[in-house]
Amino acid sequence: MYNLLKGKRGIIFGALDEHSIAWKTAEKAHEEGAKFVLTNAPIAMRMGTINELAEKTGSEIIPADATSMEDLENLVTKSTAILGGKLDFVLHSIGMSVNVRKGRHYTDQNYDYTTKGWDVSAVSFHKVMSVLYKQDAMNPWGSIVALTYMAAQRVFPDYNDMADNKAYLESVARSFGYFFGTDKKVRVNTISQSPTPTTAGQGVKGFDGFFTYADKMSPLGNATADECADYTITLFSDLTKKVTLQNLFHDGGFSNMGVSQSVMDYFEEK
Ligand SMILES: NC(=O)c1ccc[n+]([C@@H]2O[C@H](COP(=O)([O-])OP(=O)(O)OC[C@H]3O[C@@H](n4cnc5c(N)ncnc54)[C@H](O)[C@@H]3O)[C@@H](O)[C@H]2O)c1
Repeated sequence: MYNLLKGKRGIIFGALDEHSIAWKTAEKAHEEGAKFVLTNAPIAMRMGTINELAEKTGSEIIPADATSMEDLENLVTKSTAILGGKLDFVLHSIGMSVNVRKGRHYTDQNYDYTTKGWDVSAVSFHKVMSVLYKQDAMNPWGSIVALTYMAAQRVFPDYNDMADNKAYLESVARSFGYFFGTDKKVRVNTISQSPTPTTAGQGVKGFDGFFTYADKMSPLGNATADECADYTITLFSDLTKKVTLQNLFHDGGFSNMGVSQSVMDYFEEK
């Protein structure tokens, strides 16, 4: 390890189980010397195994529904108290579409579900940053990262309304990132990750098909959750201080591909 986060403090949202991208990031942040608070929605505490992670990384857990300003205010206040100072990094690793969960087609949404999914997956990022900003809870040269997917730019029909949520999330990163940069010297970025076999990932219809397709299209193959965690650590480190307002593709090269030989071979065999 490189001690990249030695002495840094943070909050990590979204570790549900050992497959979660946030879980892997917490493990790596711990290895790199960071101290952090783990948080997730109260219901996820009961479903997942976050206690194991807290024990392993010597972290405290503070439940917070990322759509509740009250929960977020409490989380940030308590985290700075527990960690003994302002924060250097925050990971937003949260996503959920009720339409996807309930099997509603994109062309036939229940708009209460749409609104709920948008609040959880996208507006929550604005809310998190708003609380951090108002409480002046970030140190200068701190780093805030959210996870996203390329369906924000290109069509993946089964990604459903999550595509729209991700487009909004990426826009919030730029818009809030401007104010966080100019006023607080804090950077804000999104990482656009390959399909990854996690609870959220596998909830998307046809996941296995588009996982394999992306793998065959990408010159380096799909990026794993572990590799995503490594990349996130670089963005929390002092080695990336002037990277901000970016949507950074971490996808083995998929986003710049037209077609690969391996995909061509598949169709030529038919
Ligand atoms: N898995 C993939 O294929 C993939 C690809 C690109 C981007 N992402 C993104 O990565 C992030 C992490 O997802 P993951 O793949 O690790 O899956 P995951 O299911 O392990 O994590 C999603 C997390 O969101 C949390 N969450 C849901 N509602 C919440 C709420 N109201 N308040 C607080 N937390 C809430 C869940 O409890 C869970 O911990 C998400 O933003 C997801 O969209 C995933």
